[in-house]
Amino acid sequence: MNHILSAGQFTLTELKGFLSRAAEMEEILEKGGSRMAEDKILATLFYEPSTRTRLSFETAMYRLGGHVISETDVMFSSQTKGEVLADTIRMVGSYSDIIAIRSKEKGNAALAAQYSTVPVLNGGDGAGEHPTQGLLDLYTIAKHFRLGEEPIHVAFVGDLKYGRTVHSCCTLLRNFEGVTFSFVAPESLQIPDSYYRQGEAKYHQLNDDILTKANVVYDTRIQKERLENPEIYEQVKNAFIFTPEVVSKMDEESILMHPLPRVNEITLDVDKMPQATYFEQAANGVPTRMALIAECLGL
Ligand code: CP
Repeated sequence: MNHILSAGQFTLTELKGFLSRAAEMEEILEKGGSRMAEDKILATLFYEPSTRTRLSFETAMYRLGGHVISETDVMFSSQTKGEVLADTIRMVGSYSDIIAIRSKEKGNAALAAQYSTVPVLNGGDGAGEHPTQGLLDLYTIAKHFRLGEEPIHVAFVGDLKYGRTVHSCCTLLRNFEGVTFSFVAPESLQIPDSYYRQGEAKYHQLNDDILTKANVVYDTRIQKERLENPEIYEQVKNAFIFTPEVVSKMDEESILMHPLPRVNEITLDVDKMPQATYFEQAANGVPTRMALIAECLGL
């Protein structure tokens, strides 16, 4: 069973294979898609809000010629009547060939996998991980840089404590030679110890040194909905704002990434700058998720 639960599950060889498969899928997309999954059904179970992850999973399945069934609001799920996730998963596995799930609770995707007869793809589990986003982030970086062959400095900025996409992206990048990191966050939202290595740079402020040094600046929004103390949001919400003046300090070949949605942390007038890569990054969700579905289904 090929579940995708955590960025930590991949070897370097598997990641290189995945990047090649995603590039193949991008070519297939340019030619109008494929019918390779025409007898397959993807179930999307999204118990937290999502635009990109769910829609790009569903688009990926349609572009592979497959079908989609969807549960997009826990209010309309039998979980509101007290059904436990294990029962939902046992049943949805009998309706579909593969399940993408997003949940509020860290560990719920792994729990779902324990009860599933079909592959489970973690589309974000609370403040835990978001491995499929991490893979599309990796693909985006690999399209801009010779990952593993040239030195790359990645600066993660924003809410690094609850930002699950950072946890997954950082874990995946650690497989490659020559990648170094800076972590820029308010003290209360710094990178958890489990994702940090002794000696790596931590900052509370964005400074010119980071902006000029970083090949990749990976910004994130403050995850207001996960903060234990809402007052913290008011204190940190304007901590890092990327304006044209800030972004112009980055090299033109460097990239500004963001998993989106953004709130106020990147101003709209940055979108036209050469460093702005976040919409390209979001678009990469389709070929990467096509590759994931195909790999998990053995297509
Ligand atoms: N990047 C991401 O997970 O976006 P959504 O929350 O819209 O799925």
